Formats: sequence, C-alpha cells, structure tokens
Amino acid sequence: MEGDTVRSSSPGKVILFGEHAVVYGQPAIAVPVTEVKATAAVEPAPSGSGLTVVAFDLGRSFNLCAAPEDNPLAVAVRLTLEHVTSSAPDATLTVRSTIPMASGMGSGAAVATAVVKALAAFVAIPLPPSEVSRIVYEVEKIHHGTPSGIDNTVIAYERPVYFTTSESAEPTLLTVGAPFRLLIADSGLPSSTKELVERVRAGWHSDPARYESLFRRIGGLSRAARQCIEGGDVGRLGPLMDENHALLGELGVSSPTLDRLVRTARRASAAGAKLSGAGKGGNVVALVGQEGAATVAAALRQAGAVRTIETRVRMRFTVRESE
Ligand code: PMV
Repeated sequence: MEGDTVRSSSPGKVILFGEHAVVYGQPAIAVPVTEVKATAAVEPAPSGSGLTVVAFDLGRSFNLCAAPEDNPLAVAVRLTLEHVTSSAPDATLTVRSTIPMASGMGSGAAVATAVVKALAAFVAIPLPPSEVSRIVYEVEKIHHGTPSGIDNTVIAYERPVYFTTSESAEPTLLTVGAPFRLLIADSGLPSSTKELVERVRAGWHSDPARYESLFRRIGGLSRAARQCIEGGDVGRLGPLMDENHALLGELGVSSPTLDRLVRTARRASAAGAKLSGAGKGGNVVALVGQEGAATVAAALRQAGAVRTIETRVRMRFTVRESE
C-alpha cells in the first residue's frame, strides 16, 4: 500500500433564476450551498485489490470491475481514469453526502464532483474546475438525459454562476456586490428533473409561441437579477424571484404545495420566493434578511417543509482543487 488518503468535498447548489428556460438557451443563475456537501475519500488498498467504491449512505459497496455500465459512481470513476489516462488504482473510494436527494440541490452532481476531484488527486493529476465540470456533465446525462450543464458548472466552480448553454469555454462567474441570505425549504416531495424537462418540452411542442415567450421573459429576469447581484442591489432581487415563480407556474411546473410554501415565506417576511429546480416537488428558495430568517424558517416548517437550510451568498469564494 502506497500513498496517503486523499479527500475532497463539493457543495450543493440552488438555482436562483432561469430553470427550464436555460434548456432553451436563456441564461440562468445558480449559487453553491456550502451548508450541505458531498465528500469523497480515496485511501490506498493492498496491491492487486483493485478499486472498491463504497457508497456509505446507501450502505452499498462494489468493485469497479463488477459495476454495471450505467452506475453513476462507476461512470464518474471510469471517465476520470480515462481523462487522466490512468488504470484503476488499488484503493477504496468512500463517498458520503449530506445533500438531500432528488430535491434540486444537485446531490448527484456534487457526489460525482467529489469523486472526480478526489480520484484525480489520488493518481496525482488534480484537475481544474473546467475539466471536472466536463466530466461531471457526462455523468449527469445518465440521470437527466439532456441536462443544461448548470449543476455541474456551479458545483465544480463553487461560485455563483450566470449560465447559458451557448457558453463554450469558461462560464461567467458572478461577482457578488453585496452579500445576501437565502432560505431553502424542502417540500419533501420528490422532483424528477427528467420527467419535468420532458413535460415542458411537450408543452413547447404543442404551443411553441407561448412557451418561447415564457422562456424569454424568464431569461429577462435572469439578466436583471445578474445586474442586481453584481451591483449589490439586493432589494430588487425579491420581486424578480416572485415574477420568476409566477412564470414557472405558467410553464406548469409548480404545484399547490410549492405555491403554498412560497406564499408562506412571503407572508413571514421573505423579500421574494420561488420554486427552485425542476419543480412539482423539491425546494423553494426565499430571500430573507438576517432578522427574519428564523421566522421564515419556522413558518415554512409549520407549513409542511421537511427541512430548511439557510445559506449566505458571500462576496468572495475560494476555489479549492481538493482538500
Ligand atoms: O432539479 P434540478 O436542480 O436538477 O434543476 C433542473 C434545472 C432544469 O433547468 C429544469 C434542467 C436543466 O438541466 O437545467
């Protein structure tokens, strides 16, 4: 057995503006959520033992040689090894996550990102965020079919991003002009990104003019929000979130539960609120002040949210290659 254990971690994420419209070329904004994370640790194993992958939270482990083709962890491992042109090391790769699954917080992308970073560092070829992001995008295709790429981007770069699918090289990382606080509430209902993206696509096929107009209006909100975030004009963000929620409702991806949570957050002093991610279930995100945060969290839990997470979008982020 040689070498040291290598660890990496990756944050969750929340989409602030532009989900669904981003699939049709409009801009979207997402921020990392560092209060939840996925971690990967690679430790040396006896020679000849190959690579064992331990999915700690699922209570499962497998040897890479025996993993099914479409197992997302195995895909992340294989793509990373291919990318760095290394054979599988004799090691144990243990993956853990505190990110709620299927709720729009990027748990799949964060787990894959942690795996890619830790494994690449273990074989002594640490990768920059752009390459990590590209590999994780390939893994994301297994879950989502046609992901826009926003999840892998915000999670690999660990920075607020202004994302469009036409971005060829480096994504636009947002400079935050003034910090702000978000409260994320989990409806407890699962949200299937693949199904909801297909549902929106069916709507677009049946009435392209209406859907394209909705996508354009949502894109306009992302552009306006970018100016507010960069200019530190946080006061204008709340109403933009409210408008985005209404447009997502028109796209058919909200639900009575999400509408109720959004209304509850606003009544309890949030400056704005919207569903976040694919919709129907998953999360809502509210813009809150320091004083109001606890009241909004309590009101949301009272209204049925199974969990709330408070996060602060800070003015500076440090990019970590691996930890
Ligand atoms: O539910 P999430 O967080 O995976 O977000 C999906 C966002 C969509 O715009 C609906 C799809 C995508 O690939 O961007």
